[in-house]
This record gives sequence, structure tokens and C-alpha cells, in this order.
Amino acid sequence: MTRILIKALIPFFLLLNCNCSGQTPKMVGGGCEGCEAIFEFGEKSLIPIDTLPGFDSSSPKLKLTGTVFQSDGKTPASGVILYVYHTDRTGIYPKKGNETGWGRRHGYLRGWIKTDESGQYAFFTFRPAAYPDGSEPEHIHLTVKEPDKNEYYLDDFMFEDDLILTQQKRALLPNRGGSGIGSPKQENGILTFHRDITLGLHIPDYE
Ligand SMILES: [Fe+2]
Repeated sequence: MTRILIKALIPFFLLLNCNCSGQTPKMVGGGCEGCEAIFEFGEKSLIPIDTLPGFDSSSPKLKLTGTVFQSDGKTPASGVILYVYHTDRTGIYPKKGNETGWGRRHGYLRGWIKTDESGQYAFFTFRPAAYPDGSEPEHIHLTVKEPDKNEYYLDDFMFEDDLILTQQKRALLPNRGGSGIGSPKQENGILTFHRDITLGLHIPDYE
């Protein structure tokens, strides 16, 4: 009797697990190599503030801060994860040798935050250097994960006073999430880089 009952219930359980619309959800942002590193925060409980390794020992110290807004550009977005990583003062992504996952490419200068109802975020780190060959301006990579979307990348944080950031290079920037170029101001001995982010802005297939 029990066996018959189980057999009768199998189709019901299959139905529960089925994506019966037959449609694969559309990828927002056109895909991205390494964006899944946003999930590599391990056991850490994410809060709106993170301090990256090397903050105490390196300079110039840098605070990245601002508000993450919904696509209307006005409503603060909560529950949003941001992931950043960048080079050290010699322009390389430093590794200790025991990195796993995307840490083997991104190095250990990386951090994660999760916004609360205010949408605000802050990363405490230091200003990176350009790659040793000078091919790219100083930059800090940024990836975002909203609660109901796949992860996607935003424009890097870049510096207005960076001579490598030519007009030609600026013209090619997609401004994903809004412009990433800023002019940090000294506040309490820390270069403070203010940047607000608008989710979905200039992001392909964002609905
Ligand atoms: Fe890079």
C-alpha cells in the first residue's frame, strides 16, 4: 500500500521541481568572466562596510562610498551585494599562494558588502596603481548581485586625475551603473571617493 502511495505521489513531486514555463531566465548584463567571484565571501556575514587587506599598512588610504539605488535612481536598494578587487601599489593583483577560486586571478585585495535599507556602502582600502606596462588606468573592479537578478559587472572605479585615463579611453566607457570616474577628497586623512550606483543603468537585458 505504501509503495503504491509513493508511486502515485512521484509525479506530484516532479511537478514541484519543474520549471514548467520551459523558459530559461534571461541573463542580465551580457555575462561576465569571473563575476561569480561575488559569491566567494565564504563564512563572512556581509554588512554595508568592509575593510580590505592592506588598508592599515598601505597608502594613500581610500574609502569608496555611496548609495546603491534601484533603477529609478531614487529608491535606495537593500540586500545588494557588491564585490571589489584591485591591484596593489605596484600594479599587480597580489597573491599569497593559497588562494582558491577566482582569488587565484583576482588576488587577495578584495572585499564584499551587502547593503541595508539605506542602500549605502563603504569599502576601506588604498589607491591601486596602474598595471606595470601602463596599459590601463588605475582601476577597481566592481561586480553587483541584486536579490532577484544574476550577477553582473559595473564600470570600474577610476580616478579623474589619472593621466592614463585619456579622453579617448573615457569615451569608450559604457557607464554601467553610472560613471565610475571620481575625484576623491581628503576627509579625516582618507581619500574619500563618492560614487552612487544606479542598478540596471546601461545594463543589457535589464528589466
Ligand atoms: Fe584589472
